[in-house]
Amino acid sequence: MFAQTRDLALPAWARRPLTRRLAIALVLALALVALVAVRTGAGQDLLPSDDGTATAQPDRIILNPTAEPATSQTFTWRTNEATSEGEVQIAPADSPDDVRVVQAQASVAEQLPRSRLVARHHSATVDDLEPQTAYTYRVGQGDDFSGWTTFTTPPAAASADPWTFLYFGDAQWGLDAGWTSIVEQAFTQHPDATLALTAGDQVNDGNDDHQWEQWFAAIAPYSSTRSFLTVPGNHELYGDDDMIRYRSQVEHPRNGPEGQDDLAYRVDVGGVRFITLNGNITDGLTDTTDNGLGALQAEWLEEQLTDNPMEWTVVSIHQPMFSAAKLRDNVAQRSAFMPVLEEHDVDLVLQGHDHAYARGHLAENDVPGGYAGPTYVVANAGDKYYDLDPAGRNNWTINDAERDAAADKISTYQSITVEAGRLVYTSYVGKVGDPGEGTGPMPTGLQPGDVLDTFTVTKDATGTPLVLAPTG
Ligand SMILES: [Fe+2]
Ligand SMILES: [Fe+2]
Repeated sequence: MFAQTRDLALPAWARRPLTRRLAIALVLALALVALVAVRTGAGQDLLPSDDGTATAQPDRIILNPTAEPATSQTFTWRTNEATSEGEVQIAPADSPDDVRVVQAQASVAEQLPRSRLVARHHSATVDDLEPQTAYTYRVGQGDDFSGWTTFTTPPAAASADPWTFLYFGDAQWGLDAGWTSIVEQAFTQHPDATLALTAGDQVNDGNDDHQWEQWFAAIAPYSSTRSFLTVPGNHELYGDDDMIRYRSQVEHPRNGPEGQDDLAYRVDVGGVRFITLNGNITDGLTDTTDNGLGALQAEWLEEQLTDNPMEWTVVSIHQPMFSAAKLRDNVAQRSAFMPVLEEHDVDLVLQGHDHAYARGHLAENDVPGGYAGPTYVVANAGDKYYDLDPAGRNNWTINDAERDAAADKISTYQSITVEAGRLVYTSYVGKVGDPGEGTGPMPTGLQPGDVLDTFTVTKDATGTPLVLAPTG
């Protein structure tokens, strides 16, 4: 009875003859081996060398600004995961034997659902540099270093000697086509540009490493010699809720508000206070409710603008205060930030998101011959095009603003030249959209290299920006 009870307690397979149990065990063992093999195969996909990109040799080298880039510089690069160490070797260009070594911090980009590569991202900041001085450097470790490269630190203050930075809207689509071409045109025309600002949606899918590969490939001829200030767009969130891939590949000063400290940041250089904001303050494109990040950043923005030693102020946010494209309206962003931008007479607000071009100002700032107050710009640098909101009644006019210049089916790059008392903005045509890209009318008579829009900002004794004779 007892034995029978024990026997019944055994699983059905254990009550079968020994030969059958052995056969079942063999089948189960083979299944287990197969399962392990499958899982190992998936694991091998995670190795960065699978696509032949990340190796021990540094790539995706990008200079990012510190809080004061005239006297310090951050270097960021990528290697395979196995390369856990890294350093910057740097010397004054006129004294190349006087090499300093700065160790890098390394982090691993976590695997994401649609981008299974794992790589290590290294970042190092070098302090005690001299403004407007050439330095030669290389990054890496052991036998794997980049080539020696020379860059020049920017000026600390505005002066009679102008300096130039570039501003790009969304890259996002056509990363190996339009974006690559526009970056090349911009730096070819402005080889002395010291900084570049990219206003979000660097890629279409934030977790797609192939798109990041293309974005970096386009800027590679320039990103090791100029600082890139980047801004998070809504597409950096696609497939990557915490923007792990975006945050891993660029390293900005961590001086933003708590929790946003590398997504919103402040940079003082050449007489300009650059402030970037994380415009992803709603939960979805159609949501108009500030999820708390707007109020948090607005308070921080207020502080940065109240205590500001720089002559000029440039704020960049991906989602614009006034939309360029049809059927778009960023209520939460406008409510959170525009009162602060206006109160402090920010000179330029540089934005993206709408895949069209628009520039304007708040109507109440009109003065004879121009306006006195912030200029808001939306620009596009990739191959994706949205239809422009019509002239007359549009997102600007219904929100008490005037749209001074506008175009669609167009990709542009912008140069901003800064000097004491004067700032000159110019938007150049990089590409005119092909027929079939969108449904709106094609721009007529425009060619790459043409000036699309230009204006000059001067400062009066009160520090209020005065924009004279706007075009468009
Ligand atoms: Fe976009
Ligand atoms: Fe966007």
